[in-house]
Amino acid sequence: MAMMIPEETVNKIRQETNIVDVVSQYVQLKKKGKNLFGFCPFHEERTPSFSVTEEKQIFHCFSCGRGGNVFTFLMEVDGLSFPEAVIKTADLSQFQLDESLVQDHNHKNQPTDSTKEKLIRVHEESAELFHHILLNTKIGEDALEYLTQRGLTREVIDTFNIGFAPRERTMLQQYLVGKNHEQELLKKTGLFVEKDNGDLLDRFYNRIIFPIRNQQGKTVAFSGRIFQQDAEDGAPKYLNSPETQLFNKRTILFNFDLARPAIRREKEVILFEGFMDVIAAWKVGLTNGIASMGTSLTNEQIHLIDRVTDHVLIAYDGDTAGIEATKRASDLLAAETNFDIDIIRFSEGMDPDEYIKKNGADAFKELIAHGRETLFGFKMAYYRKSLNLSNESERLGYIEKILSELLTVTSAVERELYFKQLASEFELSIDSLKEQFQQKFHESRNQRTKEKQQLYQKQPVERNYPQVQMQKRKPDNIENAERLLLNRLFHFEEAWIIMKNGADDFHFVHDEYQMLFILYESFREHTDNEGPIDAFIDFVKEPELKNLIVEIELLSISNEVTAREIEDYLDMISRKSILQMKLKEKQEALTEASRRGDKDQLRVLMIEVVNLSRLLKNK
Ligand code: CTP
Ligand code: MN
Repeated sequence: MAMMIPEETVNKIRQETNIVDVVSQYVQLKKKGKNLFGFCPFHEERTPSFSVTEEKQIFHCFSCGRGGNVFTFLMEVDGLSFPEAVIKTADLSQFQLDESLVQDHNHKNQPTDSTKEKLIRVHEESAELFHHILLNTKIGEDALEYLTQRGLTREVIDTFNIGFAPRERTMLQQYLVGKNHEQELLKKTGLFVEKDNGDLLDRFYNRIIFPIRNQQGKTVAFSGRIFQQDAEDGAPKYLNSPETQLFNKRTILFNFDLARPAIRREKEVILFEGFMDVIAAWKVGLTNGIASMGTSLTNEQIHLIDRVTDHVLIAYDGDTAGIEATKRASDLLAAETNFDIDIIRFSEGMDPDEYIKKNGADAFKELIAHGRETLFGFKMAYYRKSLNLSNESERLGYIEKILSELLTVTSAVERELYFKQLASEFELSIDSLKEQFQQKFHESRNQRTKEKQQLYQKQPVERNYPQVQMQKRKPDNIENAERLLLNRLFHFEEAWIIMKNGADDFHFVHDEYQMLFILYESFREHTDNEGPIDAFIDFVKEPELKNLIVEIELLSISNEVTAREIEDYLDMISRKSILQMKLKEKQEALTEASRRGDKDQLRVLMIEVVNLSRLLKNK
């Protein structure tokens, strides 16, 4: 939702919110000295390195470097857009947001946004209708009976807002028209099919309806399940909404909105194949389950998962298709980031839902807790499945393959275990296995180095505004001076005066500080020199720069400033820039001399360049 909220409203909300109240709803904070500390919600950690500074209304993680103000926090933690984060902040701090203000602005600037909102409203209303029919009407009785047979309780039906779409194919259409929704809008919902004469028929009929919610918990699509024997021939078991402005299968994870708190708490997500499995697990108390919508995992989905946890438990169906899907999902996950991946395999081709029905909730929970396989163990079994290991060449091929896979196992203890297992199974010595493994290890390292070199040769490093190079380097004296100077510029008018009275060609040495400086200058103009730092964080768009502002804000530095201090910073930074300029000149001259073949000149210049470089390094 790319709506616009007037700047004054954004500022007001920020002023009336205490970041501590908002963050506390996600992170347990404890006071330590001036700041509050807790476990960073963005990654796993053993000691709390996530801090909130109430006085400045900012957060910062000393371990992962993420930082920002209250809006940045909600954007990151809940995956919201800026306006969504502003509205959520208003909600959380019980700020009375003038809806008409937001809406008006909306209409003026972004007519398309309200379409999305209307589409969501249509979905929410439809879901309510389906849910009502399922629970309270005669035509819903069979469907309710079916769900009850499958073990779904009233509570679960309510939580997932499950419903029923009756046989009559104009029911939803009539209901929505009765609510004054226009035909054109209804066509965009994907909830109808258009007849030749332009009339709309309900897409979903005689099916149990499962609402599909987006990350923010809004219903954006439906999936309808057939449940009667007499269903039409060839009709699919599940029918999903088509892709619409709201619904993109690639980016949706079923139940992600409700599972997120549990995923954070458990530090793990359970990935199921079907959403009935998610619901079945939820019913027995495992609420950290999600599923993709009947498709392979996409990168978008993997990145969503990556924001909340590093640990994925794959619990796909136990049939052949499920095992293939497990292999595919684990490859995709492993290729994308450093997930810890475990696998659950269900016996006799069962899916989780069937397993629970057959063996009970306790057996299921026990299996999830203690019946997991490591990813590597799964792969060993996977590769072996299609092989005849009494055949020597197949056996050798298998050992080769397993040793290659072992390269991805980083724990030496775990590797040792597999060496032992392989050795005893194939009657080989552990030493010979290790030797072969070492060889593979070197081959793969050489290969990686080569690939890296090729990559660098292919991509000349280009830098243009506003992409600032943000390498992590240890701040040296100059960089410290740059940071301290910016800190002073953020807070003291005196610093500006001294700076303006000094050299007018002053320039920060590092691009990112120069950029922050320019941005802060225009922010000052924009706010008549009165904008607080947490507002500046919103003003700056680039996440890396936002983090940098926070780092600069958190420098421990005295409350008073002297002219001398500012002059020293300016001095230190300028001296370095002068040296840099000289070095650049000399280097150009050197290139020129070498082109001319002027050996004497070349020798002189070379010495100068070396000396200048040394000087610069010691700065
Ligand atoms: N799916 C689909 N269309 C189908 C069949 C399946 O979109 N015709 C998707 C659904 O998202 C479903 C998932 O694939 O959740 C897994 O399918 P399946 O294992 O067949 O579903 P189950 O979860 O076992 O459903 P049920 O127990 O109701 O049979
Ligand atoms: Mn099933």
